[in-house]
Amino acid sequence: MAVARVLVVGSGGRENALAWALARSQGQPRVWLAPGNGGSAAIPGCETLAIGASDGAGLLAACAEHEIELVVIGPEGPLAAGLADQLRAAGLAVFGPGADGAQLEASKQWAKQLMQEAGVPTAGFWVVESAEQGCRLARELNRPLVVKADGLAAGKGVTVASNLAETLAAIEDCFSGRFGSAGRRVLLEETLSGPEVSVFALTDGERLLLLPPAQDHKRIGEGDSGPNTGGMGAYAPAPLLDGAGLEEVRRLVLEPVLAALRKRGISYRGVLYAGLMLTPSGIQVIEFNCRFGDPECQTLMPLLEGDLAEVLLACAEGRLESAPPLTIRPQCSACVVAAAAEYPGEPQLGDLINDAGPGLSEAGADSCQLFYAGAKASSPGKFPGNGNGQLVTSGGRVLAAVAQAADFDAAFEAAYGRLAQVNFEGMQVRKDIGHQVRKS
Ligand code: AMP
Ligand code: GLY
Repeated sequence: MAVARVLVVGSGGRENALAWALARSQGQPRVWLAPGNGGSAAIPGCETLAIGASDGAGLLAACAEHEIELVVIGPEGPLAAGLADQLRAAGLAVFGPGADGAQLEASKQWAKQLMQEAGVPTAGFWVVESAEQGCRLARELNRPLVVKADGLAAGKGVTVASNLAETLAAIEDCFSGRFGSAGRRVLLEETLSGPEVSVFALTDGERLLLLPPAQDHKRIGEGDSGPNTGGMGAYAPAPLLDGAGLEEVRRLVLEPVLAALRKRGISYRGVLYAGLMLTPSGIQVIEFNCRFGDPECQTLMPLLEGDLAEVLLACAEGRLESAPPLTIRPQCSACVVAAAAEYPGEPQLGDLINDAGPGLSEAGADSCQLFYAGAKASSPGKFPGNGNGQLVTSGGRVLAAVAQAADFDAAFEAAYGRLAQVNFEGMQVRKDIGHQVRKS
């Protein structure tokens, strides 16, 4: 029996893309998003539930009411807080690791120790517990270091210092309380260099299914300048890793980490996301995350062909070997994010979003999609999917246009073409997403 009823937890563009892809699974399941965003109700086959991603009791009640067969948890916060454990304890099939496995992302120190234990290549590091200890060590080492708050800091807890003074300032900053409890412990790392690429594997704790490698664009400005963001665009498959390169990542990184997790008694069922740097001396792991990347997920989902709901259910049930095949469309996927004015600082909110382009239920959605993120209905209860409301901006990254084509030039042309049909006050778009793979 095909999966008929799925719940996706989260409210970003990533969750909209997951819900869209799940609803297109062979059994055409009904998909609920909790809470989703202003664009969610317009995704064919999807409905929203006004329940927050951290409201475990509310989500449990919704699962019972809607007879949910599979829960897919998008963001790291609820995973680290044990939402998957809570739902599994009630007998639900959940795609997403428990709080134990989510430490791969929630504690950089924990992840580093696991990598060391597993022999996974990663930068040398030191853990410090006070600004004084950190600054003393940095002075002794007398070279610029990468300074990282240990806990979850929404992608903002890392400074790649270019000299000792910057290293010292970043250490002081981490211990100043800016990252709350995430900054109580700080990692100092050796600085690596090389292009970065992300690899996503679906796993049932034993087996791995690798998706095409993707490249994100973290900086706000063109030419990879300015402060870091959650991600301003992405593309896949990144040619930085060919088939043999991906197999190397499986052998050197993913399989040893899964084995080390199992050794600690952790059955990790969800996405294993390895952020890699391809250094002159080989592949190095920069970080692990316990979820899909955003906007890499929006980029990857349209490339998947097959029964995603069945595959994620098989991961959740620890039997990935029995899942139907998930094939990858032999195409290039391009994703460009539109962000609100002032992002990644305090974003300007509440601006009307005009979109003259086709929705996800119209012709062409197979090769071009617009996924909303920081967007909400202009008046409560009204969604554009119902034809009686308009969207306004409600977050930093507002939406992403994604397109697939035979080559990257055509894919980016289509994605930028789709964005040209959208506007809102102060809309920020990087024009150079995919510069690594575009010829025009
Ligand atoms: P993270 O949040 O750990 O992914 O770090 C954010 C960004 O900082 C990464 O995408 C890299 O660009 C950079 N970074 C992190 N660790 C290192 C390192 N050891 N050497 C050089 N750059 C790094
Ligand atoms: N786009 C990077 C991330 O989701 O962490």
